[in-house]
Amino acid sequence: MNLKNTTDKVITLTKEVGVYLKEEQHKITSEIIEKKGRNDFVTYVDKIAEQKIVDKLKIILPQAGFIAEEGTETKLADEYNWIIDPLDGTTNFIHGLKPFSISIALQQNKEIIIGVVYEVGLNECFYAFKNGGAFLNGKLISVSKTSDLSESLIATGFPYYDYTRLPNFMESLQYFIENTHGVRRFGTAATDLAYVACGRFEAYYEYGLQSWDVAAGSLIVKEAGGKLTDFSGGVNYIFGKEIIVGNNSVFDSFFAKIDSFYNK
Ligand code: IPD
Ligand code: CA
Ligand code: CA
Repeated sequence: MNLKNTTDKVITLTKEVGVYLKEEQHKITSEIIEKKGRNDFVTYVDKIAEQKIVDKLKIILPQAGFIAEEGTETKLADEYNWIIDPLDGTTNFIHGLKPFSISIALQQNKEIIIGVVYEVGLNECFYAFKNGGAFLNGKLISVSKTSDLSESLIATGFPYYDYTRLPNFMESLQYFIENTHGVRRFGTAATDLAYVACGRFEAYYEYGLQSWDVAAGSLIVKEAGGKLTDFSGGVNYIFGKEIIVGNNSVFDSFFAKIDSFYNK
C-alpha cells in the first residue's frame, strides 16, 4: 500500500464529511439528541457521518476491518483495521460550539500507520503516516520546545461518566492551574492531541477515553516528535482508556506530576 496516497484519500473523505457536519450543525434541536449513557450523546449526524466514512473506506481499502464508535460496521480484519470517530466533540456540536473533529486512523496489526484529524470548525486538517512526518493543511508541524511546566499550556478532558478517579483529577487540576500557563478543556480529544502535535499545547492528559478518540491523534503527535504513554508509563494508550502526552522536553516532568496524583 502507498501510505501517502491512502492518506490523501482519507483527507479528501474527511473534508467531504466535514461539509455535511457543518451543514447539519445548524439543524440540531434538543429533540434529536439521543443518550448512549450518562452525558454520552449521539445524534443522527454522528451515525450518518459514520456511514458515509465507512462506505468510502471500504472502497479505499477493501480488505480492512472496522472499529467505529457508532457501530456502523463491526467486522475486524486480520491485518488492517480502521479506527473511526465520525464526530469527536458531540457535546460541542449539539450546543452550537466548535471545535469538533473527524478522526480516522488505520491500524496495521498492532500499529497505527495513518492518522487524520480534521477539525471542521477552523477547517484544519492534521495528518500523519508512519515515518512520514506530521502535517497541518499541508505544512510540516512539530511539537513545541518548551521544557518548563511553568511555561506550558495544558489540555485535558473533564471526567463525565467515570468519577472513580475524580479526586485524583481534581488534585492534578489544581496543581496545573497553579503551576502552568493554564488548563484548557476543548471537548475533543482528537483535537487536543493535534494541538499538542503542532505546538499549541505543550501537554495533554485524560482518562475514560476510547480508541477512536486517540488512535489518529496519537500517530500525529508521535510523527510531530511528541511522547505518549498510558498513566503507568506503558504503551497501552490507545485501548487502555487513558493517555499522557507531551512535547519531548516537558514530557518527563509532566508525567511525574500526573503519576504523583494518580498512582499514590
Ligand atoms: C469525547 C471527546 C471529549 C472527551 C470524551 C470523549 P465524543 O468524544 O473527545 O473531549 O473528553 O472523553 O468521549 O463523545 O464527542 O466523540
Ligand atoms: Ca470521541
Ligand atoms: Ca464521537
